[in-house]
Amino acid sequence: ALEDLLFSYKGILYPAALCNLETFRVLDSFEARSDDMILAGYAKNGTNWLHQVLNDLEITAAKYTKEEINERMNITNELFVFLCPEFGDPEKFKRMKELPFRRIIVTHLFPQVLPKSIFKSKAKILLLVRNPKDTAVSYFHFHNNMPTLPSFSSWDEYFAAFMHGKICRGSYFDYLVEWNKHVDDENVMVITYEELKENQIIGLKKIADFFGFSLNEEEIQTVAEKSSFEAMKENSFKTHGTFGKILFRKGIVGDWKDHFYEAQSKEMDRKFEECLEETKLGEKMKY
Ligand code: PPS
Repeated sequence: ALEDLLFSYKGILYPAALCNLETFRVLDSFEARSDDMILAGYAKNGTNWLHQVLNDLEITAAKYTKEEINERMNITNELFVFLCPEFGDPEKFKRMKELPFRRIIVTHLFPQVLPKSIFKSKAKILLLVRNPKDTAVSYFHFHNNMPTLPSFSSWDEYFAAFMHGKICRGSYFDYLVEWNKHVDDENVMVITYEELKENQIIGLKKIADFFGFSLNEEEIQTVAEKSSFEAMKENSFKTHGTFGKILFRKGIVGDWKDHFYEAQSKEMDRKFEECLEETKLGEKMKY
């Protein structure tokens, strides 16, 4: 039943397999560091992709040895779902506090529920957004393929739920409206899934500049190759286990055209305009 798979906190649904009310009670005890790299993106915006990018930028720039890279990977895997604060508990936060390397914190949370220290610390936040139509399609397949999430019997039923935010992690439109309030913060940079697909090299250079990495052309090229959809899919059993089979689905822009009816497309356009018209984020995301 839906109630067994999801639970509601402040009006938003979360995956019960990964967190519970206690998680939210202790969330503010999470301590951000000023050099943390925060990767914020709604579910299915491409967070696993950008996590790999940030990781590779960091290990290339810091010139870690093979042993250090392995140790780092073991520790982060053990702390589960990278370092998502919303999948944490006081014990995990304590271990995260002691990590002897620069941390990549990945989160699908709305800004108003993020641990307060993230904004206080001035840690840099990379906000990753994606065309809502492709996000919706990606999330549809994810809901139907993940045993820990409720499935939907039809696309139409799912579409209505997505539009009303009656899905795990709440409304993507509300998410964008809330994050739009932060796009002018000096520690926030926005990047779109589409611009990265269009030109990954330029995208990676922007990201590297933002986080203060200096890499040469060849290094950027190597990071780009390692984080291509094909390379990540190929390597996915090693990095994600069986979850990788569900996660690396298509990795393209425009798959929505094979799912949306004309009326649904128009309805989503209207909703997007209603929520983001004449906003910086809306301008940036124009699809
Ligand atoms: S999750 O489970 O919410 O954290 O998913 P998330 O990683 O945010 O998003 C998954 C979608 O990102 C696609 N993906 C990629 N696209 C391009 N390049 C690379 N390297 C890449 N890696 C993952 C993944 O395929 C999901 O999108 P869809 O449209 O379903 O294929």
